[in-house]
Amino acid sequence: MAAILIHADAAAAISATGLRLLNAIKTKPDVVLGLATGRTMEPVYADLIERVQSGGQSFSGVRSFNLDEYIGLSGKHQQSYRQTMNRLLFSHIDIPLAQTYLPIGDTDDPAQEALDYEKRIELAGGIDLQLLGIGSNGHIGFNEPSASLGSRTRIKRLTASTIKANSGFFGSNDAVPSHAITMGIATIMDARKILLVATGEGKAEAVAKALEGPVSTSCPASALQYHPGVSVILDQEAAVELKLRDYYEEIHPNGRELYFRS
Ligand code: GLP
Repeated sequence: MAAILIHADAAAAISATGLRLLNAIKTKPDVVLGLATGRTMEPVYADLIERVQSGGQSFSGVRSFNLDEYIGLSGKHQQSYRQTMNRLLFSHIDIPLAQTYLPIGDTDDPAQEALDYEKRIELAGGIDLQLLGIGSNGHIGFNEPSASLGSRTRIKRLTASTIKANSGFFGSNDAVPSHAITMGIATIMDARKILLVATGEGKAEAVAKALEGPVSTSCPASALQYHPGVSVILDQEAAVELKLRDYYEEIHPNGRELYFRS
């Protein structure tokens, strides 16, 4: 685990995330980004758009791969992750839509689409920076508890708790698709760098299990403990159950990354 960065509040955590994304694009204009959906990401994309609008950064060379898509939803469905990404980010920046990838949700052959998606990532040279949220049950992407830590992009069934957590977007539990195509844990672990963002007390237990618990399929995010290039951006609430919280705050006061120099 590279760095656990605890910020004073959600606004500071979000702003730090937006800044990192912008810096990644400035440093490498043809960066390959791994993107995520979920409520946590909504203010992150708003922050990034604001930075881009005031700084004039071009996304014309950027390529992006989203973590997942609901099976059965066309890219035109309001709650498809394709539409969500268009609405929250892509329509506000100059990235050509042809350079933004999500699994196709309404394909006749989702298993083949998952294999093709994995290939597309490989052909793009792999993901430089993967943005991640975390589910309250420890899922990343739609890798629900019990997901193989060696998994690649494939079909996953959503758990009842994830369906409930996402039902607000659809109006009822029944309207939430039961399956998704998601990057696997091993696909995510292949990213050169990973940025995990969590805000709010609802994520505190999952964050503690992921960062300090045993590495286990019962908390898929715990696999990140094996990745040497992860930064975890938290607010105080999401950090509240971390046993070594004082230590992390000592190393990174206010979420700042300081480097030791003798
Ligand atoms: C969703 C997504 C994840 C996301 C997670 C948390 O189901 N598939 O990529 O990180 O759940 O979402 P939220 O930020 O809304 O809590």
